[in-house]
Amino acid sequence: MIDRATVDRILDTARIEEVVSDFVSLKRRGANYIACCPFHHEKTPSFSVSPSKGIYKCFGCGKAGSVVSFVMEHEQMSYTEALKYLGHKYGIEVKEKEETQEDIRQRLHHESLLIVNDFAQKFYTEQLTKSNEGIAIGLSYFKERGFTDETIGKFLLGYAPNKKREFTHNAQRKGFKKEHLVEVGLTIEREGSGELVDRFYERVMFPIRSISGKVIAFGGRTLRKDKEVAKYINSPESEVYVKNKVLYGIYEAKQAIAKAQKCYLVEGYTDVISFHQAGVENVVASSGTSLTTGQIQLIKRFTNKVTVLYDGDWAGIKASLRGIDMLLEEGLEIKVALFPDGEDPDSYARKHTREELQEFLENNEEDFISFKQRILAQELSKDPLQRAKLIGEVVNSIAVIPDAIVRAVYIEQTAEKLKIKQELLQQEVAKLRHKKQSDTFYQQKRDQERQERLQGIQAADTQQNFAAATQGGQKNIPGFVVNTYCSEAEKEILYYLLKFGNLQIHVDDDFAYGMPQDEEQTVAQYILSQLQNDELELQNLLYKEIFDEYFRLKEHDANKVLRYFINHPDKSVSDIVADLFIQPYTITIQQFSKSLIPERNVLGRVVPKSILIYKAKVTAQAAMNLTEELGKAQKEKNVELQNELMGQLTTLMQVRNFFSKELNRIIL
Ligand code: CTP
Ligand code: MN
Repeated sequence: MIDRATVDRILDTARIEEVVSDFVSLKRRGANYIACCPFHHEKTPSFSVSPSKGIYKCFGCGKAGSVVSFVMEHEQMSYTEALKYLGHKYGIEVKEKEETQEDIRQRLHHESLLIVNDFAQKFYTEQLTKSNEGIAIGLSYFKERGFTDETIGKFLLGYAPNKKREFTHNAQRKGFKKEHLVEVGLTIEREGSGELVDRFYERVMFPIRSISGKVIAFGGRTLRKDKEVAKYINSPESEVYVKNKVLYGIYEAKQAIAKAQKCYLVEGYTDVISFHQAGVENVVASSGTSLTTGQIQLIKRFTNKVTVLYDGDWAGIKASLRGIDMLLEEGLEIKVALFPDGEDPDSYARKHTREELQEFLENNEEDFISFKQRILAQELSKDPLQRAKLIGEVVNSIAVIPDAIVRAVYIEQTAEKLKIKQELLQQEVAKLRHKKQSDTFYQQKRDQERQERLQGIQAADTQQNFAAATQGGQKNIPGFVVNTYCSEAEKEILYYLLKFGNLQIHVDDDFAYGMPQDEEQTVAQYILSQLQNDELELQNLLYKEIFDEYFRLKEHDANKVLRYFINHPDKSVSDIVADLFIQPYTITIQQFSKSLIPERNVLGRVVPKSILIYKAKVTAQAAMNLTEELGKAQKEKNVELQNELMGQLTTLMQVRNFFSKELNRIIL
């Protein structure tokens, strides 16, 4: 943890245009700078940096944030890492906040494990390049495979010598603890005797690195031909090596993936390395298994386009088709390319020039769904039962795609190719989706996590309160569903709160309803009292979180507020606030920023108006929910409940009509 004072100093000093221009070439445009966006591929610049606001925003891909989030996003660093980076750039000493004993123990432990792995990597590399055995066996093997010294260096390749205790002895002599050596799996402690032996010996070594480049594990390949020894041995899982969150080559590939907006997925270490050597660097390996969700998330940080590369091994392809459905499900755009018989990515890359390889990849990639159809159609005969099976398989893949439009496109294409009615396919897809939704709840799971994090803020209660309040305290309206219906109106309120919260507001007579208005009141106080009077809380949990946090701040100066939220450790918070500040998106404010009317006067109209709109929407929503409840009560023939709900609905409709009339009056 970095202490608050240091964070503030860093934020005071760091200039966003300077930081961004270390990575992107910026051109001045008025008060701002523009460039081609570093986060997505584009030809005309839509990435804008505002030095005065300390914000960047891409109007193409929507990425936006502060100087800190820029560094986080661009360099794939954590919040703390990004602050340290900025501190370093501006010569500010970064002191960490006091950690608890437990924090320290945990951090030191983690660091020790990384240091052990780092030591091991250096040991194996030295063996490869300096020892007679390593040079004669390991290095010559890599050379035979066509790896250059540069490639060997880039991937930190190494050699574990043919002595069963060489590494462990060395490490212990250097003072590394047995516990750490065993924990990362480099050393194995024999049961009973307690004898220590190396996990890896007589193997060439492929270090596996984390996304930030730290060595976290190893794969070791034997050079023996006999079948008794396993071809590859890998480090076991450990605190630093969580297999399902690691992709081989991600560290070396991440920049290239982001730039190309495409990631090639191969099977093995050697495929990745040969591609790099051939000049194609946007490639990662799943290490022979099918991808996990955690690995997909890793790719999705850089692109949503993945091209899976297969060698011509038929059984392998068929076995992997299912795994690919998972990629579709995560919203990735999947293509597939098949290498000619007997070739794999590694051998093909070695035999061809960079241009040939790239040309091959471009010309041979095929959309996954049509690929699957083609593969299965070859397998299956014309037998109708088999055909149904094929259709079922393809429907399976289409059904998992999250984007409805993409699904529709595939349904159309597939219907044509397989000569079936579109409606039929549609029905099948819909059926499957329905089934899936009831067993998986992907989205709900994420929402739930967020909700748990917010510790049970019951947004649903809000509507209940409001509805109850508008009906003179009637209660017992069954739980309403949280929805996004009011979101835009809530966003607008948040916008006024954050940007003008500390300014005085003199509510326009039009909105005062003859009530005396508090003369000395800020926009924030007005908004708060307006919501509290009707027992309203923002329903969007993220907005509510920001709203509440605003009132906990000591300083409400707009610049300080902006700076606080824009540098918020929760990226979803900083994203939203950046978005709110970067462009006046409300119609009222757009008019107002072009006009010459002093802010103060306009606030007295626009703020009450957006509150009015919000309340009108909440009421309409509550009415909709009540109507639904009423429908249910009618079905269940629960007369008592029906009557009660009818009463509530009537009152609510009156309130709603009041709001609509008011809105008409104000807007006209
Ligand atoms: N793999 C593994 N353990 C095994 C076999 C394979 O972890 N016992 C993983 C490795 O990551 C390997 C990948 O699966 O790189 C692909 O396996 P394979 O094609 O057998 O190895 P290659 O990397 O192609 O090695 P080579 O070209 O030297 O045969
Ligand atoms: Mn191979």
